[in-house]
Amino acid sequence: MLIGVPKEIKPDEYRIGLTPESVLALTEAGHEVMILTEAGHGIGKTDEEYINSGAVIAETREEIFDRAEMIIKVKEPQLDECALLKEDQILFTYLHLAPDPEQIKALIASGSKAIAYESVKANDGSYPLLTPMSEVAGRMAVQAGASCLEKAKGGRGLLMGGVTGVEPAKVVVIGGGVVGINAIEIAIGMQANVTVLDKSARRLDYLESVFGDRLNAVLANDQNNRAFIEAADLVIGAVLIPGASAPKIISRKMIKSMKPGSVIVDVAIDQGGCCETSRPTTHSEPTYLEEDVIHYCVANMPGAVPLTSAYALNEVTLPYILKLANNGFKDALRDDPGFCEGLSVCNGHLTIAAVAEEHGYEYISPMELINQG
Ligand SMILES: NC(=O)c1ccc[n+]([C@@H]2O[C@H](COP(=O)([O-])OP(=O)(O)OC[C@H]3O[C@@H](n4cnc5c(N)ncnc54)[C@H](O)[C@@H]3O)[C@@H](O)[C@H]2O)c1
Repeated sequence: MLIGVPKEIKPDEYRIGLTPESVLALTEAGHEVMILTEAGHGIGKTDEEYINSGAVIAETREEIFDRAEMIIKVKEPQLDECALLKEDQILFTYLHLAPDPEQIKALIASGSKAIAYESVKANDGSYPLLTPMSEVAGRMAVQAGASCLEKAKGGRGLLMGGVTGVEPAKVVVIGGGVVGINAIEIAIGMQANVTVLDKSARRLDYLESVFGDRLNAVLANDQNNRAFIEAADLVIGAVLIPGASAPKIISRKMIKSMKPGSVIVDVAIDQGGCCETSRPTTHSEPTYLEEDVIHYCVANMPGAVPLTSAYALNEVTLPYILKLANNGFKDALRDDPGFCEGLSVCNGHLTIAAVAEEHGYEYISPMELINQG
């Protein structure tokens, strides 16, 4: 199979879909890989390193979109990239379709087969291609939040861990999944006072068993959310309803109740954000002030640490990319129902139920579509 890797064009996005090591694995398996010139520079990899792994360097992205049978990316295709996608071409990348009606329309119009990393499911029900980026974002959320709390950044002027005789910062993590547990771990490591709110009692039990009395684990409901958000110095929004837009569980009123100079890091912003006052920002301008609370809402947080992120991502995507390249689209998805769940748009049809329902499209099950031939 001819596999194409363009350069990411989303603002401040430095990751790349394939590392030289992944290219080598694919070329050794008998596939051709075409990389856009300088696409690896963001992770410090030169064209020569890609050539040494067996890749061919393309001078224009048009050449890649024109010739490749499968496109591997990191972020969702921008509209001008959607316009380059061809009928039957496979696109394998993060899509985050729920908050992005224009992308939905453009992908449907392209006739391509778009598989979303974030919707691919493992046998145990987890989302293996979301996990490594959630780990990165969870760890970064605390780093970003701690920096925003500094006075020069407009924050309250609080040190996360306090010092002897002075209280530490109060950190409230909403959603104790993969982002949440990583944020909790770093915040506890910085000796902050940490509370997690999750709607799943089972998840709270697990978090308690991991962190013991270093963590305050509380059931998420309107009353608890309101009380803990009001008292927090740093709130980290980390909820997820798979495939759907994030629920707006933090209202403007709750944000208004926080102390001036407090911080919210809305990690769920890639799914639309879990806070009424959130809107997407970039690494160049990561924050804005609303109701005197600093909002950090970068939708591609792992893009700031592309070297760590590209390798972490490739570790989990490569087996799926090899499956597609070795077995072909149909057999690869038919033999793995969890992989098939990642198929989001296929030959002009929307194949992800939550997004179809939210945006009023007809839904066709991906497996049904594949079995129809
Ligand atoms: N901004 C970024 O760069 C970036 C990077 C990675 C992940 N994310 C996003 O971070 C979010 C979290 O991802 P994850 O991998 O940790 O998901 P996850 O499924 O592992 O965890 C989500 C948690 O949220 C909880 N939850 C759901 N609804 C809730 C509610 N109403 N109240 C309280 N808890 C609730 C669930 O019980 C679960 O424990 C997602 O929106 C994901 O897309 C963003």
